[in-house]
Amino acid sequence: MKDGPPAGDGRAHSRWTHDQAAGIERREGIVAPVVYPPASRPNEGVHVWDTWLLRDRHGAVAEVDGWRVVFCLSAPADLLPGKRHDVAEIRYYCSRDGRRWHDGGPVFESALGQRQWAGSALLDDGDVYLFYTAAGEDDAAELTYSQRIAGAAGGAVSATDDSFAIEGPWRHEVLLEPDGERYETEAQSRGMAYTFRDPWFYEDPATGESCLLFEGNVPVPEGSETCGGDAAAQAFNGCVGVAVSPSGDPMDWTRRPPILDAVCVNQELERPHVVRWDGRYYLFVSSHMHTFAPGITGYDGLYGFVADSLAGPYRPLNDAGLVVTNPANAPFQSYSWMAFPHREELLVQSFFNYYDFDGETLDLIGHLPESEQMRRFGGTLGPTLRLALDGDRTRILGSLDHWHLPLPDEPLPDFLPHEPGGTLPGSLTGTGEYDARSGDRADGTDEE
Ligand code: FRU
Repeated sequence: MKDGPPAGDGRAHSRWTHDQAAGIERREGIVAPVVYPPASRPNEGVHVWDTWLLRDRHGAVAEVDGWRVVFCLSAPADLLPGKRHDVAEIRYYCSRDGRRWHDGGPVFESALGQRQWAGSALLDDGDVYLFYTAAGEDDAAELTYSQRIAGAAGGAVSATDDSFAIEGPWRHEVLLEPDGERYETEAQSRGMAYTFRDPWFYEDPATGESCLLFEGNVPVPEGSETCGGDAAAQAFNGCVGVAVSPSGDPMDWTRRPPILDAVCVNQELERPHVVRWDGRYYLFVSSHMHTFAPGITGYDGLYGFVADSLAGPYRPLNDAGLVVTNPANAPFQSYSWMAFPHREELLVQSFFNYYDFDGETLDLIGHLPESEQMRRFGGTLGPTLRLALDGDRTRILGSLDHWHLPLPDEPLPDFLPHEPGGTLPGSLTGTGEYDARSGDRADGTDEE
């Protein structure tokens, strides 16, 4: 990846280039196994999708008196899945073993925005902070699509061996808004979608600097020479933005130029997050097939980049950037991947999106009868993927059950053998285990 020009022209230090992204392909080690619906789910009554773990300042998964916690976007399960973004609210689930989860209910009684989109959560000295996207104007009568990055301070945990709760009173603040120079405003946007969202907290151990990564778009002036002057390609202007907190105060942020952009390549670099591994910084984002610029064939997938410092320069993993994607016959089965380290592996959780559907685009789901849209939506967490990470290369090793989110002191099960020369066979998901040798599913157990 080339270094960008110095900060100040709106473009990022590192760029995901057209040539790099043109090399995206489904290949062994990158394609996830087919996912089947789980036998049971802790989120009866609600759809859940984007999910994040409560973590400490350095990204390690937090354990509070034996409990770990996830926060999920949620909406009533009787709602048409495509409408869920319009009413999303943040709930939490807690677990002592990373397998059985208890529904803690909505985190906030009220929050900023008409609805709340993705974010992150920090446990700092016993205090819980939530970072989230305030989507829509609070007092507008209609649904609006403005996005601001918000924070909530004041969360406190009360826990015993059999009970766990996170309670306020919460203090909500808008933390960041786009400036129109480095980060596009909604009014400037010419793309199919607009983004200024998905804050993710991380304190860089190398510099001690507190950072908030987020998804944004870079302003590309109309009539400019960017993308060779191709106006259609200019609308694809996604970036990973960053703000820093000089004092370390999680509620006080200063915008910095983006650390990575995909101008002329992709419109949405969603849910950016970092894993520090072997002294390097691995930056991950999720993106969709339909948000790649014309001429680039990408997939709904987890994309990754590596650098020697948090600011970059970043180069794409596996040459083109693709780390995990769905199989060709289930191209929309999972989305919104989030990686976290576990001993010598990287674990990746995501949500179970549309299955039993191999249409050309996600949009076509909306053309199916409503009952079919409901039937084909997973609306719960998917299996957790296990990844090997080595320098600029990654490889899917296997997967754990839906909702299985282990801590580093909990060992992972042994692997099943791979089929010679092939991608991971079948599914390692749901209630049973796929036996690669016989090809049979050994149903009847919740264990891997
Ligand atoms: C990804 C995403 C996020 C956003 C949320 C809204 O699944 O698009 O970027 O915060 O969904 O539901």
